[in-house]
Amino acid sequence: MKHIPVLLDAVKDAIGDMRGLRIADCTFGAGGYSRAFLDAGAHVVAFDRDPHVANDANMFQNKYGNTFRFVPETFSHIGEIDGLFDVIVFDLGISSMQIDVGERGFSFRADAPLDMRMSGKGMTAAELIAKSSVDELATILRDYGDVKKANIIARAAKEKLPQTTFELRDLVFNPNDVAPVFQALRIAVNDEFGEIQRALAAVPNKLACGGRCICVTFHSLEDRIVKNTFRDWTTPPGDARLPETCPAPFKLLKTVTPDDGELENNPRARSAHMRGVIKTC
Ligand SMILES: C[S@@+](CC[C@H](N)C(=O)[O-])C[C@H]1O[C@@H](n2cnc3c(N)ncnc32)[C@H](O)[C@@H]1O
Repeated sequence: MKHIPVLLDAVKDAIGDMRGLRIADCTFGAGGYSRAFLDAGAHVVAFDRDPHVANDANMFQNKYGNTFRFVPETFSHIGEIDGLFDVIVFDLGISSMQIDVGERGFSFRADAPLDMRMSGKGMTAAELIAKSSVDELATILRDYGDVKKANIIARAAKEKLPQTTFELRDLVFNPNDVAPVFQALRIAVNDEFGEIQRALAAVPNKLACGGRCICVTFHSLEDRIVKNTFRDWTTPPGDARLPETCPAPFKLLKTVTPDDGELENNPRARSAHMRGVIKTC
């Protein structure tokens, strides 16, 4: 299934007139956001660490020429891009294509090698299980998936060393824990929270005055990271919570969640939140 962009109208509303703006689309995916920005007259630098998006990115390059640049890297490299951005956007998590291509190992609904790497580089989920201790694995399940009985599942995983998605699914005895277990391993394999934290630390210095940072999150744990970071940035100057990496105070934009119409059209939007801030210098 082609990826349906989530909360795109809310993101466009939060940006306003895009003509001539320099926008970083940190999560290119199927290019739904980038296309909307480019068609509205913005210049876009798009990141994605997934090599499977290269074809779409090439098509964008041909269509939009030098108003579009693709960076096949993790978005935590944003600090290394020259110049400032008017808008930096993150549409976090995984795309429909990543879930739907069973062989990539993200889904417990398709039998496939237990991989889960967005970039195809680094340790697979099967290797992560093999390398971690029971305690380390239980911590991953608890911290990244809120998994109940994390210790028991970690012990079972270390004993059986699952190599496929179905082998992992079948050792999780409570069906309600299967999705959280897959989510937790995916977050660990891709260092998703580390990526968000490193990228957000670079954002204040990469935004022009009046620039906006907008994040769409898909579960409470990543939403909490964004919410707390934005809260720190919006503390008054002089307050100890204002991080050193934040040279100017920010103002919060309104948080938006999908309306019934969007949810009906795209059930994958159900847990989404859009949060944003404006740099007020
Ligand atoms: C939810 S999709 C984005 C969909 C996109 N907004 C659209 O409308 O088509 C998330 C994308 O971000 C990418 N991604 C996730 N974490 C990343 C990271 N740390 N660095 C670069 N790309 C990342 C994934 O590979 C995936 O393609």
